[in-house]
Amino acid sequence: MKKLAVIDSGIGGLSVVRELLKLNNEIEINYFGDNIRVPYGNMSRDEILSCMEHILDFLYEKGVTDCLVACNTMSSAILNTGYTHKIKLYNIVTPTIDEVNRLALNKAAILATKFTIASKEYYNRLKAIGTDDLLEMASASLAALIEDFDENRDIIEEEVLDYKRRIDDGGYKTLILGCTHYEFIDAIFKELMPEVDFIMPAKLLAHSFDASGLKKGDFNIYTTKGKDIYIHSLRTLDIDKKLNIEDYIEI
Ligand code: DGL
Repeated sequence: MKKLAVIDSGIGGLSVVRELLKLNNEIEINYFGDNIRVPYGNMSRDEILSCMEHILDFLYEKGVTDCLVACNTMSSAILNTGYTHKIKLYNIVTPTIDEVNRLALNKAAILATKFTIASKEYYNRLKAIGTDDLLEMASASLAALIEDFDENRDIIEEEVLDYKRRIDDGGYKTLILGCTHYEFIDAIFKELMPEVDFIMPAKLLAHSFDASGLKKGDFNIYTTKGKDIYIHSLRTLDIDKKLNIEDYIEI
């Protein structure tokens, strides 16, 4: 029987969990958030791959067989490197490209971390399917600000409004939210950019994944920092499932 994990640098991947549980509330989910090291988006590829390896080794010891990489940054770091692990990995970029292809968008904007944009993994794949006009916007700060959402709400809104101006100036109508942390605050994006259509990778990853044959069970969270942020976040996301949290994990 398969045992599922969802991983991210922090709380962003909970946006994938939210969608997974809407589809099937019974599956066991083993979530790993490396909140002590977030943001990964400002790291090098080698640093990201090393953190990821430690997380996956930890989860393998827990018996995990399949893992959704609920992080555009980690997914961009493993694509094209041939990186594999004993755990089967599902990246978040591929279902997103499939959706843009399905919509046949030749013009779109993407907002993502510095690493994701610099890696060109989205850029190259989008160009290859005919998205000729792509506005790339990289944020070095937004994911970390979202980790402490209540404290940072005003700064977050200012930053989002800045992106809105760039999107409006270029006449773009579609925005790819290329970081799962951003989907965590999708309501703010929708409120501040009511005229924009959003592509949501977290949702697409959850929907593209075949959840048959998965072990049923609790929602187990492992984090390298304190548990409070998770208790608070799960309330915000309206996730209701039997929960176990182990915090201050060392990897
Ligand atoms: N949530 C992540 C992503 O989708 C990573 C954010 C970060 O750690 O910089 O890219």
